[in-house]
Amino acid sequence: MDRSHVWTPSDGNGQNGKKTYWSYCVICCILLIYTSSEKIGIFMNSRKLGNYSFKIAADNIGTVRPLEKACHFNKIYQLGDSIADTGNLVRESPFGSGYPFAHLPYGETTFGFPTGRCSDGLLMIDYIALASGLPYLEPSMKEDGNFTAGVNFAVAGSTALPKEVLEAKDITNPISNSSLSVQLDWMSSHFASICHTKEGCRKMLEKSLFFVGEIGGNDYNVPFLEGRSMNELTSLVPEVVQSITNAIKRVIDFGATRIIVPGNFPIGCIPVYLAYFQTNDTAAYDEHHCLKDLNNFAEIHNQLLKASIKKLKKDYPKVVIVYGDYYNAYLSLLSNARSLGFDENSLQKACCGTEPYDCSSGKFCGTPGVKACPRPDKYISWDGVHSTQQAYKYMTAYLLDSIIPQLKCHSSALDARMNNQAVF
Ligand SMILES: *[C@@H]1O[C@H](CO)[C@@H](O)[C@H](O)[C@H]1NC(C)=O
Ligand SMILES: *[C@@H]1O[C@H](CO)[C@@H](O)[C@H](O)[C@H]1NC(C)=O
Ligand SMILES: *[C@@H]1O[C@H](CO)[C@@H](O)[C@H](O)[C@H]1NC(C)=O
Ligand SMILES: *[C@@H]1O[C@H](CO)[C@@H](O)[C@H](O)[C@H]1NC(C)=O
Repeated sequence: MDRSHVWTPSDGNGQNGKKTYWSYCVICCILLIYTSSEKIGIFMNSRKLGNYSFKIAADNIGTVRPLEKACHFNKIYQLGDSIADTGNLVRESPFGSGYPFAHLPYGETTFGFPTGRCSDGLLMIDYIALASGLPYLEPSMKEDGNFTAGVNFAVAGSTALPKEVLEAKDITNPISNSSLSVQLDWMSSHFASICHTKEGCRKMLEKSLFFVGEIGGNDYNVPFLEGRSMNELTSLVPEVVQSITNAIKRVIDFGATRIIVPGNFPIGCIPVYLAYFQTNDTAAYDEHHCLKDLNNFAEIHNQLLKASIKKLKKDYPKVVIVYGDYYNAYLSLLSNARSLGFDENSLQKACCGTEPYDCSSGKFCGTPGVKACPRPDKYISWDGVHSTQQAYKYMTAYLLDSIIPQLKCHSSALDARMNNQAVF
């Protein structure tokens, strides 16, 4: 792969240009759906009904609040990367304010200013908060953050595997060292400061929802975009999944009872990958014009993750662990693009920035002179790597549909365990 056009942060704090700066570019993610009831019979099975109810469910997430109705969570805790970071990277990094994400047009929709979110507006975790009737999760690094309703520990650019493990494989993450185990240590300190005993924490977390991921995408993004081979990448998958599995065990040990574990997106449909790996071999593409090999790779990760969750459920029968199907949530956008109002000619183009969307050409979104398209809601991809608010909203609706029933918030087994805590 041609590594000559690599973008380096302008203040000179960055790496030497050998590693791809794709850093910015980290992928991330979500959930949602509708079960809720009453006026909303149509939300049941909305995925099967396709377009119509799927859209309505999404447009009403904040008013119908299906997660609040179903589960009454009072706190949400998030571990992850740029798919869920609501402002940690831009606070953590010494050149935080130099990141594109710290500049408009990031945040132009809904907020009107950049928040550190890697999108034009809200992320899936924001829609989850809305669906739960809770405020947006504050980033853990916000100094005056209000963490009453939970904490967001996700850091854009972070990996599942620790920096030392990746470095031993000659993979250097140019963006963040705050891998999953680092985020878990922050979480541990946070709990130590607000619930002082194990029992106290368990009690406090009875009505909490945990998101472990999406994480792991960057463990692959960095080496993929450096041109490492598919074989090398595939051999990395079991370790990445193991690190996510260890993280799930740790949050269970903290006292988590409901955990959502998202998988990876179909990376072969993401513009930065499509640009890097474009080929004249039409057989390399599927019916959505996504790169088959890359999607198969994401599926390998997801299958292994699902198998691991299955085993964990056996080992921890009292804990509800649910796989978050970001892969199919994303594909559902492509399949229903027209009825969801996306521009069918731009499904694999970014609203903001120019190809190859790798920060190399100085045309990455959020860098000087780069403008966003006038209608981000017509695009799935915001900056070639991350999705638009509109895409996140629809994916959240799609996810809630399958996740809410699986959360079993009315499960009698859990009710019993929770000793008359009538909440679930
Ligand atoms: C779903 O989409 C199809 C075509 O995209 C359209 O013909 C149909 O009317 C839509 N259904 C609803 C309920 O909107
Ligand atoms: C913090 O957030 C909670 C809701 O999650 C709210 O009730 C409380 O008033 C907030 N505290 C402050 C100091 O803003
Ligand atoms: C990661 O940590 C090393 C030192 O351990 C530091 O030199 C480097 O700048 C850090 N990288 C980032 C992206 O923060
Ligand atoms: C595809 O074919 C065109 C014309 O034959 C050629 O110019 C271009 O370099 C090819 N692209 C790739 C990615 O091989």
